[in-house]
Amino acid sequence: MPLTFDHLAPIYDHFMLPFERGALRRWRELLWKEVKGKYILEVGVGTGANAPFYPDGGTVVGIDRSRKMLLKAKGRVGHPLIVADVQNLPFGDAVFDSAVSTLVFCSVREPVVGLREIRRVLKPGGYLYMIEHVRPEDWKGKVFDLINPLTVFIMEEYVNRRTHLMVGEAGFTVLKVKNLTSDGLFKYMVARKGP
Ligand SMILES: C[S@@+](CC[C@H](N)C(=O)[O-])C[C@H]1O[C@@H](n2cnc3c(N)ncnc32)[C@H](O)[C@@H]1O
Repeated sequence: MPLTFDHLAPIYDHFMLPFERGALRRWRELLWKEVKGKYILEVGVGTGANAPFYPDGGTVVGIDRSRKMLLKAKGRVGHPLIVADVQNLPFGDAVFDSAVSTLVFCSVREPVVGLREIRRVLKPGGYLYMIEHVRPEDWKGKVFDLINPLTVFIMEEYVNRRTHLMVGEAGFTVLKVKNLTSDGLFKYMVARKGP
């Protein structure tokens, strides 16, 4: 059985600390400065690493399929937290102004299904903001293709996904795809439901 985020919850924040102190913090800040609207969905909220950047005056509903990650988030996030799978969201159609995912779609089993669900719960004209790691565009891409079966087997982590292409496939209008690293491994994406 692969490792899940329930297994990883006790060590996740320690593992991420060097990244959080570096570029990741800046990237989170950049994303949240752009987020529009007052009713926001954060999918795969994890231990709540984005909470310090949440905008004032709005509500951010956090969902995650890992109960143990959410338990960690509880002390940090003063907003609703719900155990749920992005592939089957427990919300009606067209309720959120915006949605956010950071470092989530590498571990969603059916990413296009999850992206379609996000699109469903967004209001027309609603925005999706993502920071995700994808298949690198340089020579490392081939290495990631080779190790992908292993990372999937060990922890259901897909390291060679092209999530940026799947956003359009799920019916979004893609507004921005920006490389955060020169190899294209980390990308910042903004998409919209509708033209
Ligand atoms: C690498 S962590 C990222 C957590 C947080 N977004 C961050 O930036 O630190 C990935 C998170 O996505 C959650 N996740 C993975 N697949 C999911 C799914 N299908 N539905 C909801 N959450 C999911 C995991 O449980 C985990 O908490």
